[in-house]
Amino acid sequence: MIKKLCSILIMALICVGCSSGNSVDDSKQSVLETKYKSIREQKNDIGEEKNNTSTLSQSNEELVKIGFCQVGAESGWRNAHTNSMKEMFVEANGYQLSFVDGNGDQSKQIEAIRSFIKDKVNVIVLAPVLESGWDDVLREAKNANIPVIIVDRMIKTSDDSLYTCWVGSNFKAEGLNAVEWLVGYMKEKGKENENHKVVMLQGTIGASAETGRTAGIREGLAKYGNYELAAEMSGNFTKAEGKQAMLEYLKTNKDFDVLFSQNDDMTFGAVEALKESGIKPGTDVIIVSFDGVKDAFQAMIDGEINADIECNPLQGPFVSELIQKILSNEKLEKIQYMYESIYDESVAKQEIVNRVY
Ligand code: AHR
Repeated sequence: MIKKLCSILIMALICVGCSSGNSVDDSKQSVLETKYKSIREQKNDIGEEKNNTSTLSQSNEELVKIGFCQVGAESGWRNAHTNSMKEMFVEANGYQLSFVDGNGDQSKQIEAIRSFIKDKVNVIVLAPVLESGWDDVLREAKNANIPVIIVDRMIKTSDDSLYTCWVGSNFKAEGLNAVEWLVGYMKEKGKENENHKVVMLQGTIGASAETGRTAGIREGLAKYGNYELAAEMSGNFTKAEGKQAMLEYLKTNKDFDVLFSQNDDMTFGAVEALKESGIKPGTDVIIVSFDGVKDAFQAMIDGEINADIECNPLQGPFVSELIQKILSNEKLEKIQYMYESIYDESVAKQEIVNRVY
């Protein structure tokens, strides 16, 4: 044990450039972050140590009209994302916000964008439910000379000029990181040569958070010969549907030892389903979740989730910064990824106090 802690400490010191303030527990987290960051392949990491200081100078200026259409309110992560935007886009910061909850419905989101165009907002911010199907309405925004910032999930379009820029997560890297964490964990437990049966609970099919994580998990697992992806099913990113999908699967299949669950809400539902079926989550089935909400840290402390791949919802300040650049005709990066980390049961207890969502 002492040997292990020493090697973790040495690795961490190397990784963080001999930062002297780190405790052993901080070092463990540094090791996790450094190890997985190497496979993130992210071009522009943002989101670290960002305060809510980005405001428009508004003396004698008109408020900037923002139309923000959100996916819905399906998860704790989503609520944190909405709050980050709403806290930023207030009058005190020079903004006037029109907010529409898309309720998980793309047609409602398209309708909202059309109403923003009619209202002549200065900037449209869209968190799209799904990847495809945006070209027509985005062309209408372009023709009206209204810049569009896509946030969180990405869109698929043949014409990149239809949006000004995007801020969100590298979902595929999150999936790859989840697999690498699992493989490292199995090695630690001396189970790297055993065969493992994996189940994947997916989010809303066709949302880039789902397509990216699914691609990363599939690709990651395919590198190893001993992980069988036995089943994939959608829980639509909600606790209720996650539980339902898991219960349905458990009716006929109980012989799996790994669950990737593509967000924390579905994981909470799956944990309930497993318990009701007499399976011990976190022990009989190793669970890797996504998002990193505070309740998931508690579940890691309670031994019911083993690792959580963070998805950073605190995007309001970055979107504000982009808006300022757009308004002052500054050049901006088209694609920006949020800074994100990885947490597991070994660091959950000291990290839970730092969670802000
Ligand atoms: O698009 C981000 C995903 O959407 C989060 O993982 C999930 O919780 C949310 O519903």
